[in-house]
Amino acid sequence: MENDHPIALLGGLTPAQFMRRHWQKKPLLVRAAVPGFAPPLSRTELFALAADDAVESRLLVRDGARWRLRHGPMPRRALPPLSRPGWTLLLQGVDLHVQAARALLDSFRFVPEARLDDLMISYASDGGGVGPHVDSYDVFLLQASGRRRWQIARQRDTSLVPGLPLKILRNFEPEQEWVLEPGDMLYLPPGWGHDGVALGGDCVTCSIGMRAPGREELARSVLQRTLDETEAPESDALYRDPLQPATDAPGRIPPALLAFANDAVARLVGDASSLACALGEVLSEPKPRVSFDPNETAAMGGGIVLDRRSRMLYDDARIYLNGESYLASGRDAKLMRSLADRRALGATETKRLSPEAHRLIEEWARAGWLHGAADEGG
Ligand code: SIN
Ligand code: CO
Repeated sequence: MENDHPIALLGGLTPAQFMRRHWQKKPLLVRAAVPGFAPPLSRTELFALAADDAVESRLLVRDGARWRLRHGPMPRRALPPLSRPGWTLLLQGVDLHVQAARALLDSFRFVPEARLDDLMISYASDGGGVGPHVDSYDVFLLQASGRRRWQIARQRDTSLVPGLPLKILRNFEPEQEWVLEPGDMLYLPPGWGHDGVALGGDCVTCSIGMRAPGREELARSVLQRTLDETEAPESDALYRDPLQPATDAPGRIPPALLAFANDAVARLVGDASSLACALGEVLSEPKPRVSFDPNETAAMGGGIVLDRRSRMLYDDARIYLNGESYLASGRDAKLMRSLADRRALGATETKRLSPEAHRLIEEWARAGWLHGAADEGG
């Protein structure tokens, strides 16, 4: 990716400038970020996805100060009439189901893949929205069709209206507002209050959402992985205490035993290589609902493309794909990294992989994790 070239998507900033000036720092409004933007799916396709139980969907209906929230799957008849104002349908993880949505997410890969979460699509009738709120993650709000008025504020007071099925700010005082037309985009860092209200019906907004692991949550999952993968040693080093004197306080835990425990834990977490490996596996783990379409007869010839659901990452030592890790070095490592960066490899590059790497590619193709370049696997 050309990070030093101005792009329309970022309003003429280069990705490098955007990351320096705005990312995690301040909002950016971009008019015509995607000129002539066509929604990645039609209204009919959107409603069909809402009815699919593999898709995470929510319906929010506003009735004055009352809000009703319903979780999908949502058959078409569960949706209010299009002419009824004040409702919105939210579809999470559309990139996992629709190739065009994945492609849209890919245009934001100047942000590391490990930080990209998903593409959410909302459909709103006139006046629909999710109310004023703050998010914990950065988001790019790209207007796909219809018009939406966004109001934003640097939010210090994060108290919420009590008793609602969703988080709505009690005291939201907009500082800036814009009406976004199709193709316009608003970037918001975490912690900014925002409220998007559909002006007129058929309002579709794509949210390119980020993810950021919590410190403790990440420590837990990395340690859990490390433990799962550490085999119980055949001969464990046992605590020894040849210098233990006779005690008149037999209930007290010997301080040397505490030191032994500290040392044992430090050894476990001090192994940088297994921690790195566990991190890569954790970060590349597909989301809970994701399932791939295995293809037993996958015949690999020319180039390859990753399946839209695949998460592929790497570090200096390993390649990670969908929660699995592989040691890689030399030319194979270079090519596999290129596959992770571009989500595809040309026919010539694929040919240069070693026979072992070819076997892996075939295994991954059978698992549905990647496909031959000509057949993107629907
Ligand atoms: C929406 O698309 O209605 C809400 C998106 C957001 O506020 O993050
Ligand atoms: Co939001």
